[in-house]
Amino acid sequence: MATRTATTLLDWYGKNQRDLPWRRTQDPYPIWVAEIMLQQTRVETAVPYYTAWLARFPTIEALAKATEDQVLRQWEGLGYYRRALNLRKAARIVKTEHGGRLPENADELAHLPGIGRYTAAAIAAFAFGRDEIALDGNLRRVLARLIDLDLEVRSPEGEAQLMAFARRHLPRGRASDFNQALMDLGAMVCLPRLPRCTACPVRRTCRARQRGVQEQRPVRRRRGPPPGRIATAGVLRRGGRVLIGRRPEASLLGGLWEFPGGKCRSREMSRTCLRRELREELGIEVEVGESLGVFRHAYTHFRVEVHAFECRLRRGTPRLTAHTALRWVYPSQLGRYPMGQVARRIARRIAGQERTASRLRPKDHHEFAAHRSR
Ligand code: ADE
Repeated sequence: MATRTATTLLDWYGKNQRDLPWRRTQDPYPIWVAEIMLQQTRVETAVPYYTAWLARFPTIEALAKATEDQVLRQWEGLGYYRRALNLRKAARIVKTEHGGRLPENADELAHLPGIGRYTAAAIAAFAFGRDEIALDGNLRRVLARLIDLDLEVRSPEGEAQLMAFARRHLPRGRASDFNQALMDLGAMVCLPRLPRCTACPVRRTCRARQRGVQEQRPVRRRRGPPPGRIATAGVLRRGGRVLIGRRPEASLLGGLWEFPGGKCRSREMSRTCLRRELREELGIEVEVGESLGVFRHAYTHFRVEVHAFECRLRRGTPRLTAHTALRWVYPSQLGRYPMGQVARRIARRIAGQERTASRLRPKDHHEFAAHRSR
C-alpha cells in the first residue's frame, strides 16, 4: 500500500505536472535521449534540442547509422559533447547486441556508454515502469529537506539515507510518476533558495520545515569560485582557407573542431603562448598578427578567456600530433564542422557573420598579464 506521503505526492503531480515532450511518449528511445540531455542541461534549454534531435535521428537505428560529426553538429550548443558520442556508441551496441531494443532493467542499462546509475534508474522507471529511484539534484534537495538530512548530501551515508527513505515510500509500479513528482516539486516548489513551502503538498511532514532549517538543506561541501584560464587560438590561412583541427576524444570538447592554440602559462604573453603552442602542436613557426578579439566562456568548473589572432606561416607544414585530424577549410564551410562555443564564435567572426567578437575588445593588459588572479 502506498504511504500517505506517496499518495499526496502523486495527487499533487496529477494536478500540477509540467507538460514536457518526453512525458508524452512511452517509447524508450526518446526517453533515453531526454535523460542524457537532462544530465547537465536545464529542462527549458533541452526541449528544442530534444525535438530537433528526434526529427534528425528518429530511431535508434537512424542514430546508429549517423557519423560522429553529424551527432556532434546536432548536439552543438548543449555542451558536454561526450554525451552525444556515447549516445551514438550506445545506439550501435543496442543495435548489434540487443536486437535494436534498449534493455529494460537498470543493471543492464548501466552497462551502456553514457548511462550511469542515475540515468539507468530513470530510464528503467520512466520507460519500463521498474521500481527504481532516480536520485538527481531535485530529488536530493527535496528528500534531504523531508528527512532533514544534516549530512553532506553527496556523502555515501547521506545518499544511503535519502535512498532508504525514497524506497520506503516508492509505491510499487508507480515509479515513473513518483520520481517525476519529486522532480517537479523540486523544480517548482521546493526551490534551492526561497522554497515556496506554503504551496507544498507535503509541508506538514517536512522535517526541515518543522525545524525552520529548509534553507540550510541540503548540506553541501563548500566550493571556492571557479578558476579562470587564459588561452589562445590562431587562425592560420592558406589560399582562401583556414586550418582547423579535431580534438582527441578523451579531452575536454573531445571530437570537436577548433582553431589550434592552447593555454597560456603563468605570466606568458598571449602572442608568445600562441607561437609556442603552434610550434609544439603543429611543428610550425608562425608570425602572430592582428587580434580577432577576446572570447569569454564559462564552463561548469572554470571560466576561460580565449585570445584569437590571425597567424602567418613562417616555416614548416602543420603536422598531426595534438589533433586526430587537420583540415584546411573555406570560412564559408566552417558551419559543417561541430565546434565548441568559443571556436564557433571565432568561425562566425572570420566568416564575416559576427562583426564584434565580444563587447570587450582586447586591451593591452590582456596580452601581457595572463593568469591574473581574480
Ligand atoms: N530531469 C531529468 N529527467 C527529468 C524528467 N523526466 N522530467 C523533468 N526533469 C527531469
